[in-house]
Amino acid sequence: MAKVKEGWGSRVGLILAMAGNAVGLGNFLRFPIQAVQNGGGAFIIPYLVSFLLMGIPLLWVEWAIGRYGGVRGNHSSPFIMGSMTKQRLWKYIGVFGIFTNLGILSYYTYIESWTLSYTFGSIIQTFSGLSATEVSKVFNDYVGIAAASGNGGLVVNIPLLAIVAFIITLAINVYVLSKGLSGGIEKVAKIAMPMLLIFGVFLAIMAFSIGNTGEPGCTTCNSMVGFDFLWKPNFDSLGNPKVWLAAAGQIFFTLSVGMGTILCYAAYVKKHEDIALNAMTAGWMNGFVEIVLGASIVIPIAVGYMGLDWVKDNAGFMMAFKTMPYLFGKWGPLLASLAGVAWFGLLFIAGITSSLAMGTPWMGFVEDEFNWSRKKGAYTLGLLVLVLALPTILFFQAGVFDEYDYWTGTVALVIFAVAEIILFGWVFGMDKGWNEITDGADIKVPKIYKPVIKWVTPIFLIVILLSSLIKPLNGEVADWQAAVNQLFSTGTWPFASDSIIGQIFHVNQEVIWFKDGAPTVMFAKDMSRMLLLLTIAGLSYMVHVASKKRKLKELKKSTS
Ligand code: PHE
Repeated sequence: MAKVKEGWGSRVGLILAMAGNAVGLGNFLRFPIQAVQNGGGAFIIPYLVSFLLMGIPLLWVEWAIGRYGGVRGNHSSPFIMGSMTKQRLWKYIGVFGIFTNLGILSYYTYIESWTLSYTFGSIIQTFSGLSATEVSKVFNDYVGIAAASGNGGLVVNIPLLAIVAFIITLAINVYVLSKGLSGGIEKVAKIAMPMLLIFGVFLAIMAFSIGNTGEPGCTTCNSMVGFDFLWKPNFDSLGNPKVWLAAAGQIFFTLSVGMGTILCYAAYVKKHEDIALNAMTAGWMNGFVEIVLGASIVIPIAVGYMGLDWVKDNAGFMMAFKTMPYLFGKWGPLLASLAGVAWFGLLFIAGITSSLAMGTPWMGFVEDEFNWSRKKGAYTLGLLVLVLALPTILFFQAGVFDEYDYWTGTVALVIFAVAEIILFGWVFGMDKGWNEITDGADIKVPKIYKPVIKWVTPIFLIVILLSSLIKPLNGEVADWQAAVNQLFSTGTWPFASDSIIGQIFHVNQEVIWFKDGAPTVMFAKDMSRMLLLLTIAGLSYMVHVASKKRKLKELKKSTS
C-alpha cells in the first residue's frame, strides 16, 4: 500500500494545532467548575504551582520523547517509548498512550456533538422565550435523562437526535483526519483558533458589561462578584490535599499531558527543529485561554443573574447547556442567538481541535505498524470510537460516562505520566534527555529544569498517584491522620470510596448486577470497565504482533 509521508506544513500550523490540542472543553467547562468547587481564588495557587513544576516539565519531556521517536520513524507511543530503551516493558506501557485517547474520545466527542446541536439550536432560536426549567428540560430530553427508577435499576434511553448529532460529529472528525496533518488538522486549526479567540473575547466583554443586574432579592448578582471570586488569590486551602489533587488533575487534562497525544503530534517534528519554544508557546497560550477566557464566561455570567451562592451550589459542567441559553435569553432575542452561537460555536471549535489530536495516536500506530492507509486508519478509528461511545450514550444516566472520565480522563493520565518521566529522566538518562530538550531550541531553557525534571516532577507525580490511590473521606489533612488511626485501631477500611482503590473494589457500594431480573446501574458500570479493559488487552495484543513483525523484518534484512 502506498504510504503517504506525514508531516507538519509550517511552524505556525504546528503551534496552532498543538494549542488547539490543549485548548478544549477542559478550558471552558472543566476549569471554571473545578475552580468554583475548590474555593475560587484558592484554587489558583496550587494550579500555578502544578503548572510550573509538573505541567511545563511534562510538556518538554513529551515533546522531546515524541521528536526522538519520530526522527527514528516511530509515531505511536509504544514504539516511540520503545525506541528509547531496550527494555520491552516500555512498549507495553506505551499502550496507554493510545488507549487513553480512545477512552477520552468516546465521551469527549459526545459532548462535542451536544455543542454542535446547541449551536444550531441557537441559530434557530430554540430557547427563545423558555423559562429556566424549560431550558434545563430541553437538555434532559436531548440526552435522554428520565426520572430515575427508584430501585437502582438501569434506565436505558435511546436519544435519537443525540445519536444522530454524535454520528455527524464523529464523521466530521474522521473526514478531517483522513486528510492528514497538513491537509486536514493544520487547516482546521488555522481557521478555528482565531475564531475561538474572537468568540471568547466577545463573550468575556458581555460578561464584564453586565455588572450588577439588580435581580430582586439577590445581593451578589453582579458579574464582578464572579470575577472576584475566581481571580482573587487566597491562601485558605493551600494545606488541603484535595484542592491540590484537583489542581494537578486540571493541569493534566487541560495541557493534554500524560495521554500520549503530544508524543504523537511531536513525532512529526523534524530533526533539530525547535521544541523548547514551541512547547512553551502552546502551553502558555492554553494557560491564557483557560485563566483569562475560561474564567470570564460561564461563572461571571451565571453569578450575575443567579448570585454566587447559587453558582457554588449548582456548579457542574452541564450548566453550560442547562443554564447558559436561559441566561443569554435575558439579552433579548437577537443577542441571545448571537451569544448562543458564540458560546456553543466556541465550545465546538475547542472540542474538535482536541478530538482530532486524540485521533492521531491510533492512526500513527496502524499506519506505521500495519501499513494501513490514512483513510483506513481514520475509518477504523471512527468505528472503534462508535463502539466505545454507544454505552456512554445509551447508559448516560447510569454513569457510564463518568466511569470513562474517571478511568481514562483522570487515573490513566497520572499513571502514564509517572512512567514517562521515569523513562526520560532515569532510564534514558537526564543528560541525554537535556540534550534532546535543548537541541535546536529557540529559547534558553532555564537550567533549573534539569533537576526539576529528574527529581521534583517525579516526586510530585508519585505523591499525586499515591494520594489518589488511597484517599480518606474528605481528603483533608486531619482526615488522613484519622484514617490511619482507624485503620490500625479497628482494622476497618477508612478510605473514601472515590479513591482509586475504593473505586476498584466498590467500597461502601452494593455490588448487585441484577435486581428483580433487571440489570442494575452497577452492572452497567462494571460492563463499561470490562470494555475499557478489553480495549487495553486488544491494543497490547496489537503491539505484540507489531513487535513480532518488526523482528521478522530485521531478521530478513540481516540475512539478505
Ligand atoms: N486538553 C483538552 C481539553 O482541555 C482535552 C484533551 C485530552 C485533548 C486529551 C487531547 C487529549 O479539553
